[in-house]
Amino acid sequence: MKTEILKITDPKKEAALLTHAAATLSGGGLVVFPTETVYGIGGVATDEAAAAAIYAAKGRPSDNPLIVHIADPRDAERYAVTNDTYYKLAAQFMPGPLTVILPKRDTVPKSVTGGLDTVALRCPAHPVANALIAAAGVGIAAPSANLSGRPSPTTAAHVIDDLVGKVDIIIDGGECEVGLESTIVALDGDIATLLRPGAVTYEALLCVCREVRVAPAVLKGLAENERPLSPGMKYRHYAPRASLVLLDGEPVRVTEFMIQAAREQGVAILPYDEEITAFDGAATLFPVGAKDDLKTQAHRLFAVLREADDHPDIKVLYAHLPPQEGLGLALYNRAIRAAAHTVKKV
Ligand code: TXA
Ligand code: MG
Repeated sequence: MKTEILKITDPKKEAALLTHAAATLSGGGLVVFPTETVYGIGGVATDEAAAAAIYAAKGRPSDNPLIVHIADPRDAERYAVTNDTYYKLAAQFMPGPLTVILPKRDTVPKSVTGGLDTVALRCPAHPVANALIAAAGVGIAAPSANLSGRPSPTTAAHVIDDLVGKVDIIIDGGECEVGLESTIVALDGDIATLLRPGAVTYEALLCVCREVRVAPAVLKGLAENERPLSPGMKYRHYAPRASLVLLDGEPVRVTEFMIQAAREQGVAILPYDEEITAFDGAATLFPVGAKDDLKTQAHRLFAVLREADDHPDIKVLYAHLPPQEGLGLALYNRAIRAAAHTVKKV
């Protein structure tokens, strides 16, 4: 398949390109588009063939459901049975990096929800995503636009690496601002269960929901016989080719450990920006941002993991264990998965 690459940063200025992309979706095609979190690979959510094509392009197991993207929070009515808490969350966080799981309506084929009776809904804030969905006039099913098992793409170049020749169109809209996928919550009345942490934090959700439970798999791996609350929890995610080891301990001890380790063959370090000067010139470094700048760390994490993958000589990557508060929880969740839960106390 020939993949068209369209640069669209302003949906008004590039209206003709956007219309072309929307028509491709309506015709059953696949279009990769930027969102504020990560790039998504989209197809019409009511079209079973489009869903099948998405699973095939990503190499994704068909029991791992897709998120339905809508242009307006009220469009949820077409695909799901909503409730008061959904609208309270929507008023605070939509458009934005939040996905809500609700009982599905028959308009959504079971192939989109991986056979589940619930559907995930998200209204993205990125102007290109929002305009594309509005122009298509229908919900767009869109998982992250990576090959299954690779880090989610935060630039068009990442998408091109994974999906060129497998989709009709890739829209290049620049770097994704957040860099980590949306927060996912399941609702039971006004009690929310956090299934995947993201830029809408646990603390922010607590301002709207009476109670927010954190699914155990957010903080650790699934126990052997545990049933995942979200099918995505059971798959290995974001695994870099080299082994990633997260270092936990007093900041000075962690820095010292990193400096020592950096002298070994095949080792690379993901330091904070402040630590860079402590390493000698021979060290292989992928800086993640300033220590207290979790936004930049989130924005860079997946790009850094992909960059490290481009160095076949690197066998081990050492990084800081992120904190579990605020945006740190989303970083922590992605980092422990990428590290296959390998945490070293120093
Ligand atoms: O930020 C995002 O959410 C990005 C952008 C493109 O919008 N999309 C994204 O989609 O991350 P994906 O497919 O890579 O992740 C969706 C996750 C999966 O782990 C899936 O198991 C879970 O959402 N999910 C989807 N529908 C669900 C449902 N009905 N119940 C429980 N989990 C669900
Ligand atoms: Mg994904």
